[in-house]
Amino acid sequence: MKKNKDKRTSSRQICKKVAIYPGSFDPLTNGHVNIIYRGLELFDELIVAVAHNTAKKTAFTTEERVEIIRQVFRNEPKVKVESFEGLLVNYATQKKINIILRGLRTVSDFEFEFQMALANRGMRSKIETVFMMTDSSYTHLSSTLIKEIVALGGSGKGMVPPLVERRLREKFGAKK
Ligand code: PNS
Repeated sequence: MKKNKDKRTSSRQICKKVAIYPGSFDPLTNGHVNIIYRGLELFDELIVAVAHNTAKKTAFTTEERVEIIRQVFRNEPKVKVESFEGLLVNYATQKKINIILRGLRTVSDFEFEFQMALANRGMRSKIETVFMMTDSSYTHLSSTLIKEIVALGGSGKGMVPPLVERRLREKFGAKK
């Protein structure tokens, strides 16, 4: 009896659908959070992959961004958070994962996303990029916009998780 149960468990594990959700996440917004939860309806597990890009100036270090996302999803075991350096396709190959999840907010996002998806598939033919339309309440949100609002003393309520807003205020020395 126990043996059968073990067999069932292992075949389920083999069939597990895992996708990588990559991004800068500087910082994580409610738009990202929405895509992650909706992504979990399609995939058994999501790896939120924080890009470490030495050329890009970010408000939060890679370690900080990873730590923040881990905190926000601390009660969600299906969300793993890691960082990666270099090409996304190399990271995906190393993880043996072929699916990349990306959110699309507006038509203007599409052109860049389309190029990236094709370039990634050009480098590794097995890679499939799956797009999810951002919920209409978040289409106007961007990490850049939110950083500016909070840095100038505005409220990030409804735009970022409360922890992210706190961390932004600490970072920018902004008053509540
Ligand atoms: O949140 P972002 O900034 O839109 O995420 C972009 C990201 C990190 C997914 C993209 O820049 C990326 O994949 N960077 C890793 C380096 C890479 O593979 N570049 C070639 C992309 S075709």
